[in-house]
Amino acid sequence: MKIMITGARGMLGRTLTRRLKGHELLAADIEDFDITDAPAVAEAVSQFDPEVVIHCAAMTAVDDCQTNENAAWEVNVNGTANIAEACAESGARLIAMSTDYVFSGESDRPYSEHDTTGPHTVYGMTKMLGEMAAAKYCENSMIVRVAWLYGPGGPSFVHTMLRLAAEGVTPMRVVDDQIGNPTSTEAVTDHIKLLLEHPEITGPVHLTCEGHATWCEFAAEIFRLVGLDCTPVPCSSSEFPRPAPRPANSQLDNIVLTKHNLPPMPHWRKALEEFFQENPDG
Ligand SMILES: NC(=O)c1ccc[n+]([C@@H]2O[C@H](COP(=O)([O-])OP(=O)(O)OC[C@H]3O[C@@H](n4cnc5c(N)ncnc54)[C@H](OP(=O)(O)O)[C@@H]3O)[C@@H](O)[C@H]2O)c1
Repeated sequence: MKIMITGARGMLGRTLTRRLKGHELLAADIEDFDITDAPAVAEAVSQFDPEVVIHCAAMTAVDDCQTNENAAWEVNVNGTANIAEACAESGARLIAMSTDYVFSGESDRPYSEHDTTGPHTVYGMTKMLGEMAAAKYCENSMIVRVAWLYGPGGPSFVHTMLRLAAEGVTPMRVVDDQIGNPTSTEAVTDHIKLLLEHPEITGPVHLTCEGHATWCEFAAEIFRLVGLDCTPVPCSSSEFPRPAPRPANSQLDNIVLTKHNLPPMPHWRKALEEFFQENPDG
């Protein structure tokens, strides 16, 4: 299959690029073309003529988005619209990556693909509008929402915890009032490979690892798996004020996978264990 990946230098893009090597790939990042430059996007897509575009490029720094709304809008909304228009023009299927931040985080149960979005941050708002642009401009599009992502080389929560432990930070206070599904880029890539074989699936698809944890529980499992004698101390979000508020509940339910009889995502503890087996240094 001919596949273009945007944001290929990013954390997810690197795993996808490595694991989709059997396909004819164009792994592009900002040095190849800027997704906010519509003519450059149109030219790159029409020249390569992909069957599928996996769109990972985004402004992902949640706090930077909060303080630089214009830049977030430009990349996450207009950039995604440019990609979607170019896909529609060239007949490519679009797989646009998105996030749990499109939801409010106020629900007391996991969010399914059928739930209404309602972001509370600029990042979440611009990703939600990016989803809408993808669907509006490219009929043949799928929105893949992931959350609490980590992958080889980071940056991610896993890498932050390992760094803080190496620096000897003590006590290690970690937020315990936010809940989510720690998810590996490897597990997401495995399932994107399956979804590539299902062109009939369009619309939102949630891909998060099974099971849930608070950040503090996630940290404890990281330290256990790498054999570090470090016990994180639970604390509340109010101890770490951030420009962008974090959702209290980031859990996603992968209902579309079940509906299409696709295998479930692995449990987050299993995926994390495999991650450290493959990447002992993160
Ligand atoms: N990481 C997570 O926990 C997480 C959670 C939920 C959803 N997601 C979503 O998953 C996708 C991949 O995330 P990720 O963590 O792999 O992101 P990432 O590591 O930040 O990678 C994004 C890539 O896009 C590039 N990029 C930024 N602006 C661009 C532009 N104008 N034109 C072209 N490329 C541009 C970035 O380049 P620079 O580095 O030079 O800016 C970077 O290489 C994103 O859509 C994100 O919203 C991520």
